[in-house]
Amino acid sequence: MSAILVTGGAGYIGSHMNYALLDRGERVVVLDNLSTGVRGLIGAEAEFVEGDVADRDLVRNLIRKHRIEAVIHFAGSIVVPESVTKPLLYYANNTMASRALIEACIEEGVQHFVFSSTAAVYGIPGVSMVSEDTPKEPINPYGRSKLMTEWMLEDTAKAHDFRYVALRYFNVAGADPKGRTGQSTPRATHLIKRAAQVALGREPYLDIFGTDFPTPDGTGVRDYIHVSDLIAAHLLALDALRGGAGSDVFNCGYGRGLSVREIVAAVERAAGHKLPVREAPRRAGDPPMLVADSTKLKLTLNWQPRYDDVDVIVRSALEWERKLGAS
Ligand code: UD1
Repeated sequence: MSAILVTGGAGYIGSHMNYALLDRGERVVVLDNLSTGVRGLIGAEAEFVEGDVADRDLVRNLIRKHRIEAVIHFAGSIVVPESVTKPLLYYANNTMASRALIEACIEEGVQHFVFSSTAAVYGIPGVSMVSEDTPKEPINPYGRSKLMTEWMLEDTAKAHDFRYVALRYFNVAGADPKGRTGQSTPRATHLIKRAAQVALGREPYLDIFGTDFPTPDGTGVRDYIHVSDLIAAHLLALDALRGGAGSDVFNCGYGRGLSVREIVAAVERAAGHKLPVREAPRRAGDPPMLVADSTKLKLTLNWQPRYDDVDVIVRSALEWERKLGAS
């Protein structure tokens, strides 16, 4: 039986992908270097290979050995401010590693590729809702490193027997409704993760990075999408590619912007008490507002979100955080 290769499958989103694939009877091989991933999140039925996506010989061998038919590529670095101070790390871990992986796919005849791209490719969009054809003008090395990978995929798909879907994630949050995995990265920087840690008393206070953005309450606005809805989009993308669909790019978000203060209020509702917050300067590389127009995903792949409710998202993040503390 052929298998799906999930790179970064020990990470937050990748581990949710493993479970979704295993749940529907697929064979899963995870490649992860455990730089930020957690071995215990991978899922017992997945085959695990510890190693680097950039290691072309390793990847070629495992494609042959496991008869890899499709690659879902999550592995990479994802923290916007870190990319500003360590740009070459982001070009290595994201752009160069992806180049090696795509090359291994071409050499070994893997035809289907699903790529974790990002809303950060849009930079500071001049529109309130971002569609796929909004100009891509990234303002940080993270967004550029991912956009370059999109370009490599586009050019490769024109030249070879190879098709891809790039999914541009907005802000991913929440945890597996069955409680099998969740955001566990040490020193995570995500707002909802950090707010959950503060709510449980594991961190003394939550910083609000920037209160002078040109947004309704002055704090950053993002489109928070539940990780399970995001994973559903990956399954649809994979099925479309297998069914012969052409290469494509989709935004993944709900089309609803929430400010940092609105997220704090939601976490306070879920926790049942106030959070200690501190107003702090803006972080480097942060755009004021990013909200998805995901009409294309709904119409083309028939994506139907199930968890589009900030209280549901925040409660699931908090539940996972409690579980982490208990283990
Ligand atoms: C996130 C993703 C990034 C993706 C982008 C798309 C992570 C680590 N990064 O970046 O890969 O491209 O969404 O939109 O998941 N904030 C605070 N206090 C905190 C943490 C964050 O005020 O302690 C604010 C930020 O300044 C920002 C918002 O909350 O306005 C969201 O920040 P964060 O969760 O770090 O995600 P992004 O930087 O948007």
